[in-house]
Amino acid sequence: MNILLLGKNGQVGWELQRSLAVLGQVTALDFDSSDYCGDFSNPEGVRDTVRALRPDVIVNAAAHTAVDKAESEPELARLLNATTPGVLAEEAGRLGAWLVHYSTDYVFDGSSSNPWRETDAPAPLSVYGATKLEGERAIQQSGCRHLILRTSWVYGARGGNFAKTMLRLAQERERLTVIDDQWGVPTGADLLADITAHVIRHLQQHPQDGGLYHCAASGETTWHAYAEYVLAYARQTQPALHLKATEIAPVPTSAFPTPAQRPHNSRLDTTKLQTAFGLVLPPWQQGVARMLTEIL
Ligand SMILES: NC(=O)c1ccc[n+]([C@@H]2O[C@H](COP(=O)([O-])OP(=O)(O)OC[C@H]3O[C@@H](n4cnc5c(N)ncnc54)[C@H](OP(=O)(O)O)[C@@H]3O)[C@@H](O)[C@H]2O)c1
Repeated sequence: MNILLLGKNGQVGWELQRSLAVLGQVTALDFDSSDYCGDFSNPEGVRDTVRALRPDVIVNAAAHTAVDKAESEPELARLLNATTPGVLAEEAGRLGAWLVHYSTDYVFDGSSSNPWRETDAPAPLSVYGATKLEGERAIQQSGCRHLILRTSWVYGARGGNFAKTMLRLAQERERLTVIDDQWGVPTGADLLADITAHVIRHLQQHPQDGGLYHCAASGETTWHAYAEYVLAYARQTQPALHLKATEIAPVPTSAFPTPAQRPHNSRLDTTKLQTAFGLVLPPWQQGVARMLTEIL
């Protein structure tokens, strides 16, 4: 199997380099790759890449993920999150290749009190969410064979993440304030990458199972409870770390005004994914504990 991986150095892209390796020949590109164009601000360059490589599977982990920045650069966000994924879909359709793509809980407005299902109506609150939704629709409307995984609150051991920020702040300050009215599920980039590899294999035998799926670890939390978990784990496993913070105060979203609005309820119902692919999604704490063990 020939696989083209785009966005290879992002959180998910980095883990995909590992998990896809067992499936076949992987050509992995980033926005500044020199052999082939992997720059999503150049859709025609990316089109040429697909035409030259003729992959069996395209896995797109590239995106404009800076949610607040996207509010002031909507054209770039649209290019990266919708236009170029649409070109990938057109070219995948031409080749009969699979396109695997990631989307987000931010396509929803967060107004429901239940976990969101694939059949629920999206209503994005931000440019990021709106452009990611446009990307989904461009892929679906192209008619190519595709798999779209909507996920939430992604973290990886590599690069910056929420847990690392909390650990740093807890070493600097006695009191932290963390939002407690946004609900979601932290999901490891490693888990997403492993699921992607599993699903690509499955789709070779069961192509009828392509489509849109919600994919996140199990359970639910708030940013505040997530922070508490991270600091408690660090205290228990690394007492020498000397965390100064004695209080993590819960605050509403309004305490941290940001350019982009975020949904209060980001929880995704993953029943469809677990049933179709015979998967068991582990509790979010399992992946976060593993990541903390790696970084502490
Ligand atoms: N992160 C989350 O919490 C989250 C939540 C839900 C869904 N998702 C989705 O999951 C997928 C993977 O996200 P992630 O967390 O791995 O994000 P990420 O770490 O930000 O990775 C995105 C990658 O795209 C790259 N990129 C930026 N501009 C590009 C361009 N012009 N051409 C090609 N690549 C470019 C980024 O490079 P630079 O880092 O150098 O800019 C980065 O390597 C995305 O589709 C995202 O929308 C993420």
